Amino acid sequence: SLSLQVDQILSEFLLTKEELKDVMRRMQREMDRGLRLETHDEASVKMLPTYVRSTPEGSEVGDFLALDLGGTNFRVMLVKVGEDEERGWKVETKHHMYSIPEDAMTGTAEMLFDYIAECISDFLDKHHIKHKKLPLGFTFSFPVRHEDLDKGILLNWTKGFKASGAEGNNVVGLLRDAIKRRGDFEMDVVAMVNDTVATMISCYYEDRSCEVGMIVGTGCNACYMEEMHTVELVEGDEGRMCVNTEWGAFGENGELEDFRLEYDRVVDESSLNPGHQLYEKLIGGKYMGELVRLVLMKLVNEGLLFNGEASDMLRTRGSFETRFVSQIESDTGDRKQIYNILSSLGVLPSELDCDIVHLACESVSTRAAHMCAAGLAGVINLMRERRYQDELKITVGVDGSVYKLHPRFKERFHKVVRELTPYCEISFIQSEEGSGRGAALISAVACKKAAKV
Ligand code: BG6
Ligand code: GLC
Repeated sequence: SLSLQVDQILSEFLLTKEELKDVMRRMQREMDRGLRLETHDEASVKMLPTYVRSTPEGSEVGDFLALDLGGTNFRVMLVKVGEDEERGWKVETKHHMYSIPEDAMTGTAEMLFDYIAECISDFLDKHHIKHKKLPLGFTFSFPVRHEDLDKGILLNWTKGFKASGAEGNNVVGLLRDAIKRRGDFEMDVVAMVNDTVATMISCYYEDRSCEVGMIVGTGCNACYMEEMHTVELVEGDEGRMCVNTEWGAFGENGELEDFRLEYDRVVDESSLNPGHQLYEKLIGGKYMGELVRLVLMKLVNEGLLFNGEASDMLRTRGSFETRFVSQIESDTGDRKQIYNILSSLGVLPSELDCDIVHLACESVSTRAAHMCAAGLAGVINLMRERRYQDELKITVGVDGSVYKLHPRFKERFHKVVRELTPYCEISFIQSEEGSGRGAALISAVACKKAAKV
C-alpha cells in the first residue's frame, strides 16, 4: 500500500537503542583520541583546550563589551557586572543585533572583521560610550586552537562562514587589527570563547553543578570540564579545564558511515565544507530543513506525495527552512499550519499529503535529537568514569534555536540522554543571552587575575 512505501522510506531515520549506544561509544573513542597528544592530530573530535579553568579567581565588576559571532545573529552587548548582596554578583545587559551580509561571510577576513568593527563603532555611538576603553569578551563560535584565553588560531570555518585569510590566523589579532584600522575607538580584548563555553559559564553562575555547555542551533557542539591531567595538550595536572569538544566534526573518519543516508550525502556535497562536520549535518538547524526537503523530493519522485509533482520552489535548494520543521510539528491536528507552509512553497496538498509531510519532519528531527543525545551521553558517561563517582549529578547549560524553538526536540532528546546514562542525575537549564553574559563573566575573571599579577 501507499503508506507502507512511505513508512519504508521514513523508517530509515529510526535508530535503535543499540545503534545509539554504538554511536555513543564511537564518539567516546574519538573524544579520548582527541585528548591524547599521540592521536590528537588524527582524531575527528578535536577536544580543544579553552584555558577556562575551574579555579575560582573572583571577578572584577564594571562594564564589559561582549561580541557574539557564529550563531543566527551577530550581537554586540554591553554587560554590567555588579555585586549583589545575596548572590555575590549580578549582570545587566543591553544588546543590539546586526545581520552579517553574505559577502562579509564569504569574502575576505578583512572585510568580515572590518564589518564587525563597524558594528561595534555603531553600538558605542548608540550608547554614548565611544570614549571608554572597555574590556571585551568575544564569543566566537568556531573551532579555535587556543594558546591562551585571549589568543588562538581558527582551525577551519564551519556553518555558513568561509571568509578567506582567517583560517590558521589568530582571531583576536584579526579583531584588534580591524579596530586599529578604523581608529575611532579602543577596546581591550581580554577573552575569546566558544559559544558552548559562554553558555556553560553563564549557567554556572546560577547553578554550580553546571559543568557542561551545549548548543543545538545553526550548528551543534558541546564543552565540559575535564580533569587537567587528561588534557594532554596543556601542561599541568591540577584542577579542571573546559574542553571544547567540537563534536560536530565527528564522522570525518568514517565513524558515521553506517548511519548516513542518501539525503545526508547530498546535503554534505552541496555544503561549503564537504566531508566536514558530518555529525553536525545530521543535527544542526543549518541543515535540518534541507534534509526534510530532500526527503519530500524523494517521496514526490516515487509518486508518493503531491501526486508526484513538486513546485519549482520545492525543487529549489534551501527553500524549506528549518523553522518550517518546528512550525509543522507544532500543528495541533487541524493541519492549517502545514497547509499554509506548503502552499507558500507552491504546492496544494491533500490532507494525506499534510500528514506525510508532518511525518517526514518528525523523522528528520527525531533522528537529530537521538543522535545528539548519544553524543551528550558520551560526554556525561566519560565525566562519571573520570571522577570515579557512583552517581554523577550534573547540570547542562543549553542554547540554540533547534533546542529552544522546536516543540518536541527537548523531550525526545532528554529521554534518550537519560536512557543512555544510568547512575547520572542530569538537569538541563536554558541559557538566556548566555553568550553575552558568559563572555563578560569570563572577561571579568580574567581582568581580576590580571590585576593580581
Ligand atoms: C545564542 C548564543 O543565543 O545561541 C550564541 O548567544 C549561539 O552564542 C547561539 O551561537 C546558537 O544558536 P543559533 O540557533 O543562533 O545558532
Ligand atoms: C559549529 C562550530 C562550533 C560551535 C557550534 C555551535 O559546530 O564549529 O564551534 O560551537 O557550531 O554554534
